[in-house]
Amino acid sequence: MQLLTHQSTTKRPKADLIVAPFYQTKKGAVIATNLADLKGTIDPILKLQDFSGKSGATMLAYLSKKTEKRLLLLGLGESKGLTVEGIRKAYSAAMKRCQGKDWAHVNFVLPKCDKLQLSDVTRAVAEGIALSSYVFDEWKSKENKSPFKIKKAVLIGASDAKICKKVLGILSGVNLARNLVNRNALDVTPKTLGDEAKKLAKAFPSVKATVLGKKELQKEKMGLLLAVGNSSRIDPALVMLEYKGNPKSKDLTMVVGKGVTFDSGGLNLKPTNFIEDMRADMGGAAAAIGLIQAAASIKLKANIAMVVPTTENAIDSESYKPGDVYRSHLGKTVEITNTDAEGRLILADALSYGQKRFKPDRIIDLATLTGAVVVALGDRQAGMYSNHDKFAKQCEKAGLSTGENVWRMPLEHRYKELLKSDIADIKNAAGKRMAGSITAAIFLHEFIEKKTPWIHLDIAGTAFLDAPRDYHLSKATGSPVRLLVEMLECIE
Ligand code: BES
Ligand code: MN
Ligand code: ZN
Repeated sequence: MQLLTHQSTTKRPKADLIVAPFYQTKKGAVIATNLADLKGTIDPILKLQDFSGKSGATMLAYLSKKTEKRLLLLGLGESKGLTVEGIRKAYSAAMKRCQGKDWAHVNFVLPKCDKLQLSDVTRAVAEGIALSSYVFDEWKSKENKSPFKIKKAVLIGASDAKICKKVLGILSGVNLARNLVNRNALDVTPKTLGDEAKKLAKAFPSVKATVLGKKELQKEKMGLLLAVGNSSRIDPALVMLEYKGNPKSKDLTMVVGKGVTFDSGGLNLKPTNFIEDMRADMGGAAAAIGLIQAAASIKLKANIAMVVPTTENAIDSESYKPGDVYRSHLGKTVEITNTDAEGRLILADALSYGQKRFKPDRIIDLATLTGAVVVALGDRQAGMYSNHDKFAKQCEKAGLSTGENVWRMPLEHRYKELLKSDIADIKNAAGKRMAGSITAAIFLHEFIEKKTPWIHLDIAGTAFLDAPRDYHLSKATGSPVRLLVEMLECIE
């Protein structure tokens, strides 16, 4: 799908459909821009009062002998409450009306809005359209597919084509992440993630890939990643990407993503109703790889080192066992009290190895880490932990502007006591479920060098949805790729 801009609202390109935005008022819907040539069609429709202009409401009408064959009235809600997220959601509703239709050319008219800048409106409309143009139908037979056939989406009233190009570049990263999560666990193994990384390095000269296999992990003494990896016939790996988008600067952000390609729980096996979505337990890794794809596509001015520890958490006679003790790459020993707390183990090794290798100025880790964060925050906000207030604020701000919201949680160090072990330096899981997402964050914090600004995003609730919502289908969201791009853009 091409995303184009066209400044004039009167001389529009021919299209199969025109989407026209409306505001909701006490007296009914009013058009949110000037479309003088369609006034004769629109006024009688509005007079009937069937169309409220409520956010996301749509109504289709047919036009004769006009530039467009059809008109879709699109509600934006009240003008004074309009936000960029509201625009994304509304245009996503318009996109849904196009699904399965033969419409190849669609004109999307931008609303006029006092409080938002034209560039922000353009971007939000483009994002709403682009994000909801994704379908995952690899497993559907032809008769059950419902594709988008839009070849050209033209933003009418927009002038900055660069914004559209950028949105599509970022979308390529979001969709890569979505696909990696949505596909079967045995089709997206540690090897697949390594191959994806190598593909990116081949496609972009600014990207370099390195993959450590089992032998190299042994040489590097990554005892925790190897312990989890021993549960599976499939070998674990450490997948790394280096993106250099600002070669003149030494500044470097390290992004670490949890890549558990299926989390059965291990010998502490997950029960029915808790195991079904666990192919998504590499959502952090998928977002990290998606971020590199997005960054390289838009030539983001930043340097990023991506580190993805990846393995399956399976069951085998050689599985790591509850009660065992393993030595981490950093040297600290860990008593395994629960094999289902595997994410923090593999992240610990990746964090300490990555810090040693890359000496980053700041660290962000992304992980579908705990069920507890889903209980606490649901699926609309990721749990955010940080040792650095300014960095945390940047993350909150990027969350608000992208709609990939985060909520800061406390790194309450008095709970470190819950991870005290009698036979090792630390336990991987507390005996009780109390403060489950906090204790997981505290475990990770033990592997972060003191002064390095660090953010841990627990995305267990936001990476994967049970039902479609806004501009996402059910299953993978590709979150928080957009949040990360936004954050990295602000860092000097
Ligand atoms: N991958 C899970 C967390 C998860 C739960 C992700 C729901 C997505 C949706 C993680 O490895 C896990 O099993 N965590 C345990 C930790 C516990 C054993 C201390 C949990 O949250 O129950
Ligand atoms: Mn687990
Ligand atoms: Zn897990």
